[in-house]
Amino acid sequence: MTDNATDKATGPAAEEDKVWVSPIRRKARRNFPADRADKHHHLLDAEGLMDRDVTPVDEWRLIEAKPEGLPLGLAETLFALSNGYIGMRGNPPEGRDSSEHGTYINGLHETWAIKHAEDAYGLAREGQTIVNAPDAKAMRLYIDDEPLRLGNAEVYDYERSLDFREGVLRRRFIWRTPSGKKIRVTSERMVSFQEKHVAAMSIEVELLDADAAVMINSQILNRQDGEDEYHDAANAQGADLDPRRAEALEERVLIPAFQSSTPERHRSTLAYRCAHSGMTVSAAMDHTFTVTTPDGTEPYVETSQTTDPDAASVLFHLDAPQGSVIRLEKLVAYHSSRKVRGEELAFRCERTLNRVGRIGVLGLMENQQEWLERFWERSDVVIHNQPALQQAVRWNLWQVIQASARAEFQGVPAKGMTGTGYGGHYFWDTEIYVTPFLTYTSPQFARNAMRFRWDMLEAAWSRADELAHDGALFPWRTINGQESSAYYAAGTAQYHIDADIVYAMMKYVYASGDQEFLLHEGADLLVSTARFWMSLGFFNGERTEFQIHSVTGPDEYNTVVNNNLYTNVMAQYNLGAAADVVKQIQRDRPAAWRKLQHRYELTDAEVGEWEEAAEAMYIPFDEKLGIHPQDDQFLLRKRWNLDDPETGPKRPLLLHYHPLTIYRHQIIKQADVVLALFLMGNRFTTEQKRADYKYYDPLTTGDSSLSAVVQSIMAAELGYAEQAMDFFVRGLYVDLANLHGNAADGVHVASAGGVWQSLVYGFGGFRDHGGQFSIDPKLPDGWEGLTYRITIHGCRIRVTVRRRAVEVVLEEGSHQVGPIMVAGHEVIVGPEPMTVVAGEA
Ligand code: BGC
Repeated sequence: MTDNATDKATGPAAEEDKVWVSPIRRKARRNFPADRADKHHHLLDAEGLMDRDVTPVDEWRLIEAKPEGLPLGLAETLFALSNGYIGMRGNPPEGRDSSEHGTYINGLHETWAIKHAEDAYGLAREGQTIVNAPDAKAMRLYIDDEPLRLGNAEVYDYERSLDFREGVLRRRFIWRTPSGKKIRVTSERMVSFQEKHVAAMSIEVELLDADAAVMINSQILNRQDGEDEYHDAANAQGADLDPRRAEALEERVLIPAFQSSTPERHRSTLAYRCAHSGMTVSAAMDHTFTVTTPDGTEPYVETSQTTDPDAASVLFHLDAPQGSVIRLEKLVAYHSSRKVRGEELAFRCERTLNRVGRIGVLGLMENQQEWLERFWERSDVVIHNQPALQQAVRWNLWQVIQASARAEFQGVPAKGMTGTGYGGHYFWDTEIYVTPFLTYTSPQFARNAMRFRWDMLEAAWSRADELAHDGALFPWRTINGQESSAYYAAGTAQYHIDADIVYAMMKYVYASGDQEFLLHEGADLLVSTARFWMSLGFFNGERTEFQIHSVTGPDEYNTVVNNNLYTNVMAQYNLGAAADVVKQIQRDRPAAWRKLQHRYELTDAEVGEWEEAAEAMYIPFDEKLGIHPQDDQFLLRKRWNLDDPETGPKRPLLLHYHPLTIYRHQIIKQADVVLALFLMGNRFTTEQKRADYKYYDPLTTGDSSLSAVVQSIMAAELGYAEQAMDFFVRGLYVDLANLHGNAADGVHVASAGGVWQSLVYGFGGFRDHGGQFSIDPKLPDGWEGLTYRITIHGCRIRVTVRRRAVEVVLEEGSHQVGPIMVAGHEVIVGPEPMTVVAGEA
C-alpha cells in the first residue's frame, strides 16, 4: 500500500504573484509577505488526477464511460449506495467480476474475543466487526444459456453512472453475445432515503436483432458464510498487513434462523442470527416481471424458486422474439435487531414489502428524487463555473448524506456503509468531521447522531468506572458501545473523544437553538464528561495549573503523552461548557435543575471546581520557538525530514515502521495542534496560529485522511492560498483519485465531511464560536465565486462569495437571522439579499 499522492506530484506551482489577487488576499499577503512556507509541498494538479476518458466531467453525476474502466475495488466503493442504514457496494448485478461483495446493515456486527498476547487489566475484551449481510443485489442474466460476465463479454455503448439528484445507480450497454446477438442491457439500483428498510432495483433486456432465450436469476446470497462463488473471495484472502482493514471472521457468522418463499409474489425471505453477538437480520425480495413484445403477444414465462439456508433464488425463463423488452423489478427489505428473533424480522420484511409494493420501483425512484431535491436545496455548495471540482464536491457531499441520513439509532461508520475498512466502527470522525455538515444542513440528522452517543452513556459510565475514573468515558472505536480498540495507546488513550462529543453537541445546540436537547441529553453528556476530566486530570500543589497526563491526541504517531495541547484545550472547553450550562439551568429552569441535581448529586462546589480547572488548564507554550508544543515531550524528539529522498520515511509510516520508531520522532500523522487552532480558533491569536501552522506543516505526513481538510482550512485562514488549495484537492480527491491507495476498503467519510468544512469554514470563511456567527471569506484565486447554505435556528441562509463581495440572503425561514459579522460588517439577514463589499471592513 503506498501513498501514490507523491507519484502524481508536479513541480512547484507558478509564481503566485503573476495571478490576479483578490483584495482580501492582497491584504493578507501585504501583512505576511515572506510566508509561502510551501517548500515541502508537492502540489497536486487537480486536473490530472482522474482519467477523463474513463470518468468524464458531469456536475451531477459520477460516470464510468468504459467497461471496467476503473479498478474493481475502487469502482465498488465509488458507486456504493447507502441511506445510512442499508449499504450496497457497487458490485454488478451479475455478481462477477467483483473485488469485494458488500452489503451492510448499520450496526449489524459480530463479536469475537480479543486475544491479547500479553494481557493487562482494562484492555478491550471484545472485538466487533461489521457483517457482510445477505446480498440481495444479485440479478444474473443468461442469453441462450450464456452468462453475462462483463470481464469477458463484448460490450458497446457502455455507461455506468450515479446521479446525485436521482440517487439511482444506472448501468447500460449493448452486449454482443458469443453467437453474435445484440442485447441492450440496462440495470438500475437505489437504496431508498425515504424508506429506511428498502432497496429497489431492476434489469431490463432488449433483444435488438434476434430472438433469444432469456433467463434472469434473482437471488439473495449469504456471502459471509456461503460456499464457492457466494463467498466473498476478498475477505477470505489473507490480506497484507493493514491495520485499517477489518478483522476477517473465521468461523461461521450467520446462523440460518428462518426461510420462506411465496411463489405467487415471487417472494423469498431469509433470516439469520449472528453466532456470537446474537444480532438478527432478515432480508426479503419481491419481483415484478414484464415482457413487451413487438406484436403484443405474451410469451410463456417459466418461473422456479428455491430457498436454501444460504441462498434464495427466483428464476424467470422465456423464449422471446426479436424486439422484446424484458424487465425484472426487484424490491428488497432488510430488518435487523439486537433482541428480536429472526422469524419476527422476516415478518417485518414481508410487511415492508407489502407496503412498498404498492408504491413500486418507479414510485420509489420518484420519491427518492424529491427527497434529494430537498437535500440539495439545503446543502449544495457551488463553485461557480468549475464543473470538474463541482462534480467532486457533490460526490463528497453525497457520501456524507449517504453515510448518515437514516443511521438514526446507529452511528456513522468511518467508511459509511461502503466497505469494511475499520470494521464498520464509529469514531470521533462523526462528531468533528461529519456532524458540522449535518448541523448546518440537516439538523435532525445531527440530533440523531448526538442522541446516539447519549444512548451509549450507560456503557460509557461503566467504562470510566472500569478504568477508575468518574463520569463517562466514550469508546474510541465501537459499534455496540463497548470499547473495541485493542491497541490502547492509539485507542482508549484518545480520551479527547469525550470533549469532541461535547464540542459537536454545543455546536448543534447553538446552531439549532434546540434547548430541549441541551436540557435533557445535553446536560447528561456535559455532567458526565466534566466529571471524567476532573478525575483524569489533576491540579498542581498550588492549584494554579490543571494538567492531563498519559493521553493520546488526534495524532496517532505520538501516543500516551503528557498535556497534549488538543486534549487540554478541548477538555477546557468541555469543563467550561458544562459549568456554564449547569449554572444556566440552575438560574433559569428550577424544575430541570432540581432533577439534574438529584440525579447526579451535583453541588455548587463541584461545578465551581470545573470552572477552576478550566481556568487553570495548562496550555503548553514554548517561549523560545513561540509555538504551542503538541505535548510536553514533543519538542525533545528527533526530527525526521519527510522530504529527504535519502533519509526520509516511507509512506504511510504506519505500514512501514514499528510504532516505537515512529514515536521517537517529531513526526505527525494528522493535524493535532492545527486542528485545535481551527476548532478553538477564538482562543488563539493570529500570530500564534501562524507560528504553529508553520512549525507543524513540515512535520505532518497526512497519513490520515482526516488531516488535509483541516490543514486546508487553517491555510486559508492564514492566507496561504496555494497550500489551502493543495490540501483541499487532497481531501476532495482522496477517494475519487484513490490518493491513499485504500479507497477500495470504503469511502473516507470524515474527509468527505471535511471537504464541506474546507469549503464553508475554509474558503467560505464561516465561523461559529460560542454561537457567534461570522463570515470572512478567502475565495481562491481563479475561482469566480462560491455559494453555500447554512441553516441557523431553522432558517436557511444562502451565502454567495464573489471576488469583491459577499451576498447573504434568507432563502427559507420565518424570521431574520443575526447579527452575523460579514466581512467585518454587522448584518441582519432577511429575505432581501444584502451585499457586503469585501475588504471594506
Ligand atoms: C485516524 C483516526 C480516525 C480513524 C478512522 C485513523 O487513521 O488516525 O483519527 O478516527 O482513522 O477514520
